[in-house]
Amino acid sequence: MPCRVAVDFGTSNTVLACWDEATGSARVLEIPGWSRPCSGDQVSTPQIPSLIHYAGGEARWIGQQVHDLGLLDSPATVRWMKHYISTRSPVRVPLPGGSRSYREVGADFLGAVLAALPAAAGEGDLEAVFPVPVESFEHYQDWVISLAGSAGIGRVRVVDEATAAAVASGLALRPGEVFMLFDMGGGTLDVSVVRLEEGENGQGRRCRVLGKAGEDIGGMRMDQWIFEDIRERCGSMPGGQAGMALSRPLLSACERAKEVLSVENETDISVRLLPGEGLEFSTPYTRGEFERLLEERGVFPRLNATVQRALQGAYSRGFSEDDLVGVVMVGGCSQIPAVKKALEHRFGREKIRYDHPLVTVARGAAACAAGIDLDDHVQHDYALRFWNSRTGAHEFRTLVRQGDPYPSRRPLARLLIRATYDGQAQLGVPIFEMGKAKRGDQAAHRELVSDPGGGVRLVDLPDEERELRDAFWMNEKAPFFIPANPPAMRDEARFEISFSLDENKRLLVTARDNRTGHVVMKDRPVVRLV
Ligand SMILES: Nc1ncnc2c1ncn2[C@@H]1O[C@H](COP(=O)(O)OP(=O)(O)OP(=O)(O)O)[C@@H](O)[C@H]1O
Ligand SMILES: [Mg+2]
Repeated sequence: MPCRVAVDFGTSNTVLACWDEATGSARVLEIPGWSRPCSGDQVSTPQIPSLIHYAGGEARWIGQQVHDLGLLDSPATVRWMKHYISTRSPVRVPLPGGSRSYREVGADFLGAVLAALPAAAGEGDLEAVFPVPVESFEHYQDWVISLAGSAGIGRVRVVDEATAAAVASGLALRPGEVFMLFDMGGGTLDVSVVRLEEGENGQGRRCRVLGKAGEDIGGMRMDQWIFEDIRERCGSMPGGQAGMALSRPLLSACERAKEVLSVENETDISVRLLPGEGLEFSTPYTRGEFERLLEERGVFPRLNATVQRALQGAYSRGFSEDDLVGVVMVGGCSQIPAVKKALEHRFGREKIRYDHPLVTVARGAAACAAGIDLDDHVQHDYALRFWNSRTGAHEFRTLVRQGDPYPSRRPLARLLIRATYDGQAQLGVPIFEMGKAKRGDQAAHRELVSDPGGGVRLVDLPDEERELRDAFWMNEKAPFFIPANPPAMRDEARFEISFSLDENKRLLVTARDNRTGHVVMKDRPVVRLV
């Protein structure tokens, strides 16, 4: 019997769950020493803080060990890896034994967790589902899948976080009911509108995603905003080396203050390294100040716009807001009173529910691993890049649009591709994932980086990197070519190609050679979409 597990690698916390065949429910797993009970959850369920500390040589501390040893604010401790990996941050973290990229650090952390998984989950070959953010890109999903493969997990699937959470909450709902899942975690906000359907002949359940949307706002950004706010407002804050030494503990203090302000009206943000030597700092911070900050940073319009985009998908499938039976709020930041209030205001208090906010995604992903079916659609626009000899520039032709269902019933796009030079023996098919350029959104283009002096600071991203984040060449490392035999001449409209999608969201190409009249390839997979 395979052992079906879910690994919710979060920006702040990692939650592991396995499907218990005997009870037909998901059980959250604990790794002794690395896990701690979730805070804010009514039932104490274990989570692993997504933290790794490099202690020199091969020694590493993971999760709760980092807290227990008082190493959270050490420059050799790395956090928020998932955010930096998914945004393709080029930053290297200065660490003992040399600098490392966030992908390497993430692989060290997640690799250690996966290696410990069999002992926590019990007997059987592992089959795993990894929830990923709604807006996550192919490169992030591939990273997760290849890491799981190296850890010896035989079967690996990814599912988006909002859908996984919806599956867990949906287990308590009746078939036919439509509900919204709102997951605001450490890194991202993921919203989905889902309808639960009974499988054929009453067999199994199907979770039909009607609409979903994601946005890059979560607890980590809020911590950074408080951090900036404090530094800007407080002239008494030490500068130079002392300021740098205080920056990491200050950031942690901002995170704690944000959490405390969910239950208290006022708290102190204090940092003490060496009292009496200027290395101490303290300031009161109120819930009102925090809420004003959220307003200034445009959190509520962004939150509403994300909810609206998810609803839009449902509208286009014939559902209206009146069909919603409930809005389930999960994720650590769903505990922020102003966030709760915004949703209560939007949907009415009676519709809002909280459901084990920190472990729902992992529980739902474990249910997906156990075979709850999903009926889903594509999350981004995808385009073919071609050379336009008339304009002398590269251009994009959209092949698949966000919201297209898969598998596709008929070809999604048909086009002719031309040779760019005489004697061309193979014509490339470069596929790009088109991101949404968040123009005017300065916060999305600023990043918190560790500096060699051991502190942290916010920097503006250079233009090239902004562009890189907006359109991504998916098959750059594994280019796809259609062979031309005999070779093509410059500008010859050599192949008629059509694209479709299979049930694994793979983009398939069929190509007909206009010169010979032969179909040279049929339904050949090019890339897997998100
Ligand atoms: N009571 C609280 N009030 C406010 N914020 C909280 C509270 N409890 C936790 N948080 C914040 O929630 C975030 C962590 O939430 P969660 O564990 O859902 O994130 P994650 O799953 O790791 O991230 P993601 O899913 O975005 O990758 C942190 O920023 C944490 O500070
Ligand atoms: Mg999460």
